[in-house]
Amino acid sequence: MAVQFAPSILAANFLCLGEQLKELEAAGADRIHIDVMDGHFVPNLSLGMPIVEAVRKGTTLPVEVHLMIKHPDRYLEDFARAGSDQIIVHQEVSPHLHRTVQLVKDLGKKISVALNPSPPVAMLDEIITELDTVLIMTVNPGFGGQRFIEGTLSKIRHVRQMFRSRHLEGEVEVDGGIDIHTAPRAIQAGADVLVAGSSIFDDPQGPGSGLRRLQGCCGQITLNG
Ligand code: DX5
Ligand code: ZN
Repeated sequence: MAVQFAPSILAANFLCLGEQLKELEAAGADRIHIDVMDGHFVPNLSLGMPIVEAVRKGTTLPVEVHLMIKHPDRYLEDFARAGSDQIIVHQEVSPHLHRTVQLVKDLGKKISVALNPSPPVAMLDEIITELDTVLIMTVNPGFGGQRFIEGTLSKIRHVRQMFRSRHLEGEVEVDGGIDIHTAPRAIQAGADVLVAGSSIFDDPQGPGSGLRRLQGCCGQITLNG
């Protein structure tokens, strides 16, 4: 299975977002990741509906929205309408996760559940058969540019194993602190979708160059097992 790259536009230069999206497309990005924060679930505010609509118009790539918000159910329809192809909700904010997952599926969108660094993978044991993707947070959500948390590697292995043992096709996505050093290790542990913000957009030659550097260091790595 080829590894996919999902640049997170949290680190983009918003004055020229359209050009940066085109550059990423040309460099072979697989999807665009948009971080939505509400200042409650995470201690930061970030992007919302107008940006999702703009990105939808500005790229032909699939768009995924990462909802770091307390009440995702209230906004699922709006994010679907704004142009999301995949919706990522957090396990920690969803007491009725099964219902939330069904709502996303009923909207005809792909569903992903994200897990913070501290809760165990077992929290997804009963729902994993319903999911397109599990997103393992490799930092505490809320900010770009943080350091990869080593202890999350075992969680990546665990989710990969969970999918495999049930003969499921689900993706294992990782988000936070992914760069040329940590990406190969995440892939070896079983990740097949990599979200990266600062390591792509902070490249002095631009995001296309940042993405190519990341792809370059992952080319020879194969998934664990
Ligand atoms: C963090 C966000 C990430 C963030 C990653 O809460 O979910 O998607 O943009 O940024 P980097 O790659 O800089 O860690
Ligand atoms: Zn994210």
